[in-house]
Amino acid sequence: MAFYSDELISEIMAANDIVDIVSSYVSLKRSSGGYMGLCPFHNEKTPSFHVSQSKQLYHCFGCGEGGTVIHFIMKMENLDFVETIKYLADRAGIALPEERSFVSDEMHEKRRTVFEMNKEAARFFYQRLEDAQKGQEVREYLAKRQLSKKTAMKFGLGVSGSSAGELLEHLKAKGYSLEEMLLSGLIMKNERGCYDRFRKRLMFPIFDLRSNIIGFGGRVLDDSMPKYLNSPETIVFNKGSNIFGLNIAKNYIKDSLILVEGYMDVISLHQAGIQTAVATLGTALTEEQARILARYAKTIYICYDSDEAGRKATLRAIELIENTSAKVMVCDFTGAKDPDEFIKLKGTEAFLRMLKSSWSAVMYKIELLKRKYNLDDIEEKIAFVKEAALILAQLKSDVEIEAYVGKVSDYCGISRESLFAEIRKNVAKNNKQDRSRYYKDKNVYNKREIKPNMAEGKDAFTTAKLYEAERALLALAAERKDLFSAVKEKMSPKDFAKGVYQNAAEYIYTAWEAGKEPDAQEFLNSLPADEVKEASSIFFRIVTYHDGLEAVNSLMHTIQDEKLTIAIRNEQDFMKKSELIQKQQLFRKEGQV
Ligand code: GTP
Ligand code: MN
Repeated sequence: MAFYSDELISEIMAANDIVDIVSSYVSLKRSSGGYMGLCPFHNEKTPSFHVSQSKQLYHCFGCGEGGTVIHFIMKMENLDFVETIKYLADRAGIALPEERSFVSDEMHEKRRTVFEMNKEAARFFYQRLEDAQKGQEVREYLAKRQLSKKTAMKFGLGVSGSSAGELLEHLKAKGYSLEEMLLSGLIMKNERGCYDRFRKRLMFPIFDLRSNIIGFGGRVLDDSMPKYLNSPETIVFNKGSNIFGLNIAKNYIKDSLILVEGYMDVISLHQAGIQTAVATLGTALTEEQARILARYAKTIYICYDSDEAGRKATLRAIELIENTSAKVMVCDFTGAKDPDEFIKLKGTEAFLRMLKSSWSAVMYKIELLKRKYNLDDIEEKIAFVKEAALILAQLKSDVEIEAYVGKVSDYCGISRESLFAEIRKNVAKNNKQDRSRYYKDKNVYNKREIKPNMAEGKDAFTTAKLYEAERALLALAAERKDLFSAVKEKMSPKDFAKGVYQNAAEYIYTAWEAGKEPDAQEFLNSLPADEVKEASSIFFRIVTYHDGLEAVNSLMHTIQDEKLTIAIRNEQDFMKKSELIQKQQLFRKEGQV
């Protein structure tokens, strides 16, 4: 996975002025302290979207969205962090490390040419599909597969030529040289000359996340072999690091996505309204693809074909996904050979129900075991228990083990106690391995360790006023070193009421103590996406004050008072409640607890 240094990220951010970038999406007007306009992230009639050129941050006072230029592009273009960095680097003409080291300008140029040629080829294939005669057969095929014209257009489907040199002639007419054509993989060469790779096939363009066409898959229209032909690996096409359909699915994924085997499965599910389906490119899932998927979804549903090959591929995919931060679930569809057939037979509702009742990885493995052994036979039952115990021993928490032990015990009638004993034997063996996996799991982007949001949820009641005061306090602490010292005297990071604030405090304190000014952009870039919004509001706010120290003291006072209010509200015991009320009254009079 690409890893970019802080310096490089700063360089890229510096080269992409936030006002410039935002202006290409939002019409901005100058206002005091920066620019403002209508927020692109929510519907509004009066502008509450602010952009600060000096801070290089944006913030919407309407919906609370905010962050750096990186967050803006991630959100606007639906790209992940790495893709956003590439996008912004591209825009500023900055070469990224992997490109710096071995991609020359010449290579850059060649890649651009192949992208253009691929686009030209896709247009050619599409025009043939539209052609009254040439497209007849493939249109019938699409109709037979129940794919609409709209779907075909959305995925850019087409049909390749019926003779060996049609695309070649077309590309030649467009001015491409043979050498360039060979680079794209669209044209092949043997002793007798050059010819089109794809003939009489239904063509599926394969897009990267920035919507370049990187290659093609081509399916025969009959039962001949090979069923699929894919572009070979080229300077722009790497099968192990791209994912079919993700360019579209990324705009629909909220928490989960669906991983299927075939292009047809993806297209068919999308047509049925399940637009989070993606597939690998005719090869088994790779580690890199698993990591990419995990960046887009918290849960990955594996929905492979229901045959033996599909089961094997599922087990391999489970291993890879379990090594990422994503959770893996396995679909159990009976009565159909693949998702395409399932959705056509039973419909979207049934598919969604099937997703809901999908198995956890562990349950899936146990289920496969159960099918492998005849549990009425004593020998086989013992083998089943031993293997099941091995699987359960890999679980990280006792709670999980407990939950599954019940099920396994029900299946085979062996007592829970015996199962636990068997599992414990295996746990010791696994321990070492588990630790190394834990370190591998940690998200590379979150260089600082992010603390869980401990404070939240502990108190059932809390007040907006407390949060407001804490944010203002942090804003002051970030702005002036003397104010930071004053805040630190009274509050340590863990005293703040929300995990996000605790992280911000930790960052601000550490920065000043290391002798540097806190840098909002650096901090925000280190946060997981769901914390950025809230954290950016800390740094964006402008606290007006005459005397900084006085402002800090007054905010401290508010915080203590609010904490008492919260404690009073949460106290169930009447005696204790009244003591707290007294304490608060005293505090209000004397300014001290
Ligand atoms: P249909 O059979 O039309 O439903 O297509 P499908 O996309 O569902 O294909 P299938 O489930 O048979 O295979 C899954 C994926 O494996 C395909 O989308 C291809 O990417 C790949 N694949 C299948 N057959 C071949 C083949 O013969 N050669 C290559 N290179 N890849 C194949
Ligand atoms: Mn299929």
